[in-house]
Amino acid sequence: RRYSRITGTGSYLPPRRLTNADLAAELATRGVETSDEWIVERTGIRARHFAAPDVTSSDLALPAAQSALQAAGLDAKDIDLIIVATSTPDMVFPSTACILQHKLGVAGCAAFDVQAVCSGFVYALTVADAMIQTGAASKALVIGSEVFSRILDFSDRTTCVLFGDGAGAVVLEASETPGILASDLHADGKHVGILCVPGHVSGGEVLGLPLLKMDGQAVFKLAVGVLEEAARATLAKAGKTEADIDWLIPHQANIRIMQSTARKLKLPMDKVIVTVDQHGNTSAASIPLALDAGVRGGRILPGQTLMLEGVGGGFTWGAVLLNL
Ligand code: ACO
Repeated sequence: RRYSRITGTGSYLPPRRLTNADLAAELATRGVETSDEWIVERTGIRARHFAAPDVTSSDLALPAAQSALQAAGLDAKDIDLIIVATSTPDMVFPSTACILQHKLGVAGCAAFDVQAVCSGFVYALTVADAMIQTGAASKALVIGSEVFSRILDFSDRTTCVLFGDGAGAVVLEASETPGILASDLHADGKHVGILCVPGHVSGGEVLGLPLLKMDGQAVFKLAVGVLEEAARATLAKAGKTEADIDWLIPHQANIRIMQSTARKLKLPMDKVIVTVDQHGNTSAASIPLALDAGVRGGRILPGQTLMLEGVGGGFTWGAVLLNL
C-alpha cells in the first residue's frame, strides 16, 4: 500500500512584530481602546507579526516552502503538486499556488488553492495525502499562508487584536510506511454568518464589507465541541486512542479553546504545541507554523504521533493524525 509522509517542515513570519502594547498604542491613535491585560487574559496572545502593505501571501509562502524543501533535501523541481491553503490570496485569480510555483522557479506541476479558512491546512493536507495515495502525485508542497492584517477592521477591537500574518509549509512524500494515518473533515454552511468577510468583487467594485466580522462567543462554543468530535473520529479511523498522541497541534486561535480541547481529550497542556502567544491567529498558517516551531525547537521528534486539528469560517473543521 502507498502512504504519504511529511519529510520536511518550514515556516516564515514577516519581520514586523507587534506586542499587545505596540498594537494597543497604535489602536489608541484611532480612538480604539484595548490593553495587554485584556488580550492575554481572554486569548493568550502576546504578540503577532504583520506583513508590510505590499507583501502578499505568496511572498510569505516562498521562504516557508524553501525552508521545507531544504529540510526534506529536495529542490522545487522535484515537486509534482503544490497546494496553498489561504483565505487571503494574492489575487481573485490565478491561485496563490500558481503564483508561488513561478516564484519557486518551476513550471508544469499541478498547483491550486484550498479555501477552508482556519481549517485550510488540514483540508489541504488531506487532499494531498489522497492524491499521493492514488498515485496522482508523489512529492507535494502543502502550505498555509495568510496576510489576515489586510482584512482586519482596526476599528473593531473584538477582532483586530486576534490575528496575525505568516506562513508554514510541509513537504509530503509517497512512502511505504504510514505517515498520515487518518483524517476527518467537515463543514456546515449554516454558520456562515458567525465568521466571514462578506465583501466580493462585482463590476469593478467591491460590494459588501471586505473586512472580517465575527461573533466570538458563538465561534468559541462551536469550536470546542467540533474539535473534540473530529479528534475522536480521526483516532477511531486509525484504531488509536488519546494515549497514542505524543503532540496535539491545534489551530492557534485562542489558548482557552486549546485548553478546553486538551481537557476533553485528557491531554496535559505539556503535550500541546502553543504558538498563539507569539503569532496570534494566523488562520490556515497557524498549524504548519506551530508544527515547524515544534520540530525546529527539538520538541517534536521523528516517529512521534501528532494530532493536527483545525476549525474556522464556513464553518469548517477537521483533524489529521500522523506519524512523523
Ligand atoms: N480590548 C478590551 N476590551 C474588549 C476587547 C479588546 N480587544 N474586545 C472586547 N472587549 C470588551 C467588550 O466590549 C466587552 O465589554 P462590555 O462587557 O463592556 O460589553 C467585554 O470586553 C467582553 O466581551 P466579550 O465579547 O464577551 O468577550 P469574550 O470573553 O467572549 O472574549 C473573544 C472575546 C476573545 C473573541 C472570545 O469570544 C473568543 O476567543 N472567541 C473565539 C473566537 C476565535 O478564536 N476566533 C478566531 C477565528 S475562528 C477560529 O480560528 C476558530
